[in-house]
Amino acid sequence: MILAPSILSADFSQLAHDLEKVVSAGAQWIHIDVMDGHFVPNITIGPIVVKHIRRTTSAYLDCHLMISEPDRYIDAFAEAGADGITIHAEACTHLHRTLSRIRELGLKSGVSLNPSTPVSAIEYVLEVTDLVLLMSVNPGFGGQSFINAVIPKVDEVRKLISQRDILLQIDGGVGTDNLGMLLSKGIDVIVAGSSIFNSMDPESTIKEMFAIAAANES
Ligand code: DX5
Ligand code: ZN
Repeated sequence: MILAPSILSADFSQLAHDLEKVVSAGAQWIHIDVMDGHFVPNITIGPIVVKHIRRTTSAYLDCHLMISEPDRYIDAFAEAGADGITIHAEACTHLHRTLSRIRELGLKSGVSLNPSTPVSAIEYVLEVTDLVLLMSVNPGFGGQSFINAVIPKVDEVRKLISQRDILLQIDGGVGTDNLGMLLSKGIDVIVAGSSIFNSMDPESTIKEMFAIAAANES
């Protein structure tokens, strides 16, 4: 399991401290939620913050762009030090082109689907995709409940990806209660925000998550 804590639920005034805490507990990736107040009804951060995060950690920076016209900002996020950029299929007119551009910049290309978007939206872009992100909440806010209707989509995407070298990621409402079920369905990358940062002890929550993953593998 690759664990990608979402900084959306971190303390933004103590970001470096919060990042260090989750990375030292074993998280390999940091999930950065970028929102523009247009594609989603919330505004968060941009490339400047990513640039500063890059200076504080060597963890993989997984940038989830919930923005309209992502093509306008991909180069800026790459320059800021992102390792992977995930864009939304719903936000791209030329999805194949956008994913190709992310790869051209030397980054891992990710494509995300909102809960209501069918899996067929990514059928013809797999050759330029390194990661598929299934949203299990309607994007925009942390702390929402997992939408169970997304569970059959996990099987569907797993089947579509087949033997290809593409990671499957899930984002929204994931915690120790549903982690085992998701891993057993073949999810590779887990995003978790509130279940980690709002817990009494984020480090022990992360350790518990890795214990669940180890039990799932055995
Ligand atoms: C939602 C974001 C998620 C969010 C997850 O729009 O893409 O990454 O931070 O938060 P939790 O884990 O609290 O649902
Ligand atoms: Zn996200």
